[in-house]
Amino acid sequence: MVAPQRSGQPAQRMRIVCIGGGPAGLYFALLMKQLNPAHRITVVERNRPYDTFGWGVVFSDATMENMRLWDRESADQIEVAFNHWDDIELHFKGHCIRSGGHGFVGIGRKKLLNILQHRCEAVGVELVFETEADSDEDYPDADLVIASDGVNSRIRQKYAGVFQADVVTRPNRFIWLGTTQLFDAFNFLFEKTEHGWFQAHVYKFDDSTTTFIVETPEDVWLAHGLDQAGPDESVAFCEQLFAPHLHGHKLMSNARHLDESKRGSAWINFQRVRCKTWHHFNGKSQVVLMGDAVHTAHFAIGSGTKLALEDAIELTRLFKEIGEDIPVVLARYQAEREVDVLRLQNAAWNAMEWFEVVGRRYCEQLPPEQFMYSMLTRSQRISHENLRLRDAAWLQGYERWFARRAGVPVGDDAKPPSPMFTPFTLRGMTVPNRVVVSPMAMYSAQDGLPGDFHLVHFGARALGGAGLLYTEMTCTSPDARITPGCAGLWNDAQQAAWARIVQFVHTNSAAKMGVQLGHAGRKGSTQLGWQQMDEPLETGNWPLRSASAIPYGPNSQVPHAMDEADMARVTTDFVAATRRAATAGFDILELHCAHGYLLSSFLSPLTNQRTDDYGGSVERRARFPLQLFAAMRAAWPQDRPISVRLSCHDWFPGGNTADEAVALAQLFKAAGADIIDCSSGQVVREQKPVYGRMWQTPFADRIRNEVGIPTVAVGSIFEADHVNMVIAAGRADLCAVARPHLADPAWTLHEAAKIGFDAIAWPPQYLSGRAQYLANQKKHFA
Ligand SMILES: Cc1cc2nc3c(=O)[nH]c(=O)nc-3n(C[C@H](O)[C@H](O)[C@H](O)COP(=O)(O)OP(=O)(O)OC[C@H]3O[C@@H](n4cnc5c(N)ncnc54)[C@H](O)[C@@H]3O)c2cc1C
Ligand SMILES: Cc1cc2nc3c(=O)[nH]c(=O)nc-3n(C[C@H](O)[C@H](O)[C@H](O)COP(=O)(O)O)c2cc1C
Repeated sequence: MVAPQRSGQPAQRMRIVCIGGGPAGLYFALLMKQLNPAHRITVVERNRPYDTFGWGVVFSDATMENMRLWDRESADQIEVAFNHWDDIELHFKGHCIRSGGHGFVGIGRKKLLNILQHRCEAVGVELVFETEADSDEDYPDADLVIASDGVNSRIRQKYAGVFQADVVTRPNRFIWLGTTQLFDAFNFLFEKTEHGWFQAHVYKFDDSTTTFIVETPEDVWLAHGLDQAGPDESVAFCEQLFAPHLHGHKLMSNARHLDESKRGSAWINFQRVRCKTWHHFNGKSQVVLMGDAVHTAHFAIGSGTKLALEDAIELTRLFKEIGEDIPVVLARYQAEREVDVLRLQNAAWNAMEWFEVVGRRYCEQLPPEQFMYSMLTRSQRISHENLRLRDAAWLQGYERWFARRAGVPVGDDAKPPSPMFTPFTLRGMTVPNRVVVSPMAMYSAQDGLPGDFHLVHFGARALGGAGLLYTEMTCTSPDARITPGCAGLWNDAQQAAWARIVQFVHTNSAAKMGVQLGHAGRKGSTQLGWQQMDEPLETGNWPLRSASAIPYGPNSQVPHAMDEADMARVTTDFVAATRRAATAGFDILELHCAHGYLLSSFLSPLTNQRTDDYGGSVERRARFPLQLFAAMRAAWPQDRPISVRLSCHDWFPGGNTADEAVALAQLFKAAGADIIDCSSGQVVREQKPVYGRMWQTPFADRIRNEVGIPTVAVGSIFEADHVNMVIAAGRADLCAVARPHLADPAWTLHEAAKIGFDAIAWPPQYLSGRAQYLANQKKHFA
């Protein structure tokens, strides 16, 4: 017995009790016993020996490698017993699409546990079966109690205040079945009924058995009355639904714990578990959560077992490195393990969400080829170039399909352009590729007049290969400006200055040029971006207008809540600017309804607290922006498109979320918008956005596929690989790239070179530089 609560007093021998003999508890017991045979280790399991539930479990080649390092003998046995496969096959609407290189290992859960049980016994771990552990305190002599008691962990619940579990129950229903029908790839089967879609995740795990998980949204499950079905009826239902794939084989449930009399009970909801604290001293023993008890990962990326095994490895590794200083080891264990776990849980979350929305968002919207691509990249961990490494032939076939759909005539033997470099058409405008220079305020105009800076700025980016360039937010009147440096389009001189820039772009590049029109609203009359952003001017402020009289920040002016006369004046200004933009030659117009500026202030309930017809429901909040949009649409040439930029999430309680963004996109689509530019936030200062790679793309994805309107994705898209992934999966039609274009005007040309796409035209003046640049890139990335 050691004194576990004190640091710095290493002990030679520990008493360890694992509550729960699943993969986590058994593997940890096995590894610790080998680390120090003097340890006394017991695993307490309520099931019978060599008896378990569940079908096949999967893990990756990498987990297998790791296990080999820690216990060669069990790894060898697992290796003999497992099934390895590379291919993923989709069956969808009569199509069968297959791609390779995915590398999984599958083994029966029962077989895995039997191997581990056997090994535990061989090295001297005490296995106690058919014993329900009521509490960690039943083992007062234990230095360390491992709570490896699964997703419904009793120990976690006992110390709920300490562990602070965040348990989220997800909406889909699933049932875990097996079959003797054998499949030679990881299969995803989609079947539609009169009430909606069901999908099956199917993988063989030994010579005679296949795991068969059937999943569907709650509403579809209820519509079929499956909440009233016993386990046998549920199995029969699935058997009938997936009969074309089963070729006469039966589906089987081996979940003996299921109660035939309990209706609907065979179908479970996935529970995502995350814990703030992973360990606790109960006064006698140190208690630590492990495996599903502390974190779960949805089966959509098949990693619950992998996480459990890797927990066991990591804790053992730390005991090996640090010694038996239990509190120190446990603190390190949580600190080091939770980062990896979180990463995997995030990927699993994306994959899980894909399967939750697939019926309403992708099944009817995406053609089978694109559906496959979307499914393969569902976790957002596998990128376009990663797919190429896995199966180059399949990806090239997909790129060819995509390019042809985009109107590029690619011969069967020709190398297709990647999706980023395909054209895209909206009304009469065709952009040569999918890269957009996102609107960016430059705060460098004099009285709204764009000058030489703007010519050089846009000229350089047009020469740099982007398909479409947007101006910064261009203001429709002097008092519509954010700062005194903002550009405008309210007089002839400004119109002429913009026309000169547009003409340069059109004459010297294949790029199209768009104007973003906006009004600052309550965020106006502030200092330049590189001064005190969003703070009022020191002198010379002008009065502000907004939906409601709510200031932006503590020092901001209180805006005047607009009346109908104000709205009429603003509409007149926007229509006049629209006409000027058409004359200046812009190809597309974007109405700025995002980021807390005037129109955004009407759309968000946080900034619109009006009680008249322009406040209240989403429809009423959108009334003025839609009226203004309609007036602009009427003034803008019919063959030119209009985009609308929305803040798709306010990132603040009580504000707009993606649900409202979908409703707004629907309204703008009905009013004649051609594309929605999906940004977010900046509506209120107290916002709490969740940033990350491609972080706003889910909004573009949802709006594109649920509303049925093209979208622009924006936000931390900074590599060709990101653009390809977003466009190829049908998550958006264009990608706007902002900050990378400040760092590199030729971002598109350079990214093309990095991925080896050399069919993009460089300006003839720069051709001598091109060959050297491409050669150096090849060397660099070789
Ligand atoms: C019904 C079911 C089927 C599954 N099938 C699959 C599958 O086919 N493929 C896959 O990849 N994943 C499957 N999983 C998920 C996967 O098993 C887990 O992610 C993984 O097993 C986690 O390992 P673990 O050791 O943390 O927990 P578990 O494997 O859940 O092990 C926990 C163990 O603790 C025991 N236990 C719980 N409470 C007590 C107690 N108070 N006293 C004594 N013993 C206790 C349980 O009987 C169980 O054996 C399944 C899970 C369930 C619940
Ligand atoms: C300097 C700067 C100025 C910006 N000005 C505008 C603007 O005028 N209008 C607008 O809609 N967005 C503006 N944005 C937001 C960008 O268009 C883009 O949505 C945001 O920077 C996220 O893209 P990124 O991660 O590629 O930078 C600006 C961004 C930056 C960095």
